[in-house]
Amino acid sequence: MIKPDAVEKGHIGAILSKINTSGFRIVSMKMTQMSKRDAELFYAVHKERPFFGELVAFMSRGPIVAAILEKENAVDDFRTLIGATNPKEAAEGTLRKQFATSVGENAVHGSDSDENAALEGAFHFSGREIF
Ligand code: CMP
Repeated sequence: MIKPDAVEKGHIGAILSKINTSGFRIVSMKMTQMSKRDAELFYAVHKERPFFGELVAFMSRGPIVAAILEKENAVDDFRTLIGATNPKEAAEGTLRKQFATSVGENAVHGSDSDENAALEGAFHFSGREIF
């Protein structure tokens, strides 16, 4: 997902361009907005964390771009491309280094496993929207 902070700042095109030139194939994509309930469900794994309320408010405050990406070793390679959760720790050349402002408002989300990628893809897209 391209998160609300990056959409608000007009970074959709730059982020998609970097994703494409890094060898990912976009097989599904849409601009959408998560309700509070959607964000609570999407991030249910974090519901006991102190930042959960902040995370849900942030992720539902404006539109996002959701996408499913394909590539050999996609999960690890995408996590390398986006960089550390905290942009202060993100490596030079990563999306979070370039576009994120804080650990909460960190521009991009990437799935942490193939299993979660399948669940998160199904959260946003129906079978007819996956190419
Ligand atoms: P993401 O990769 O989408 O997965 C969980 C999100 O929780 C993470 O990116 C951050 O946006 C958010 N998050 C993680 N740690 C913190 C924190 N300490 N304070 C606020 N938000 C956080």
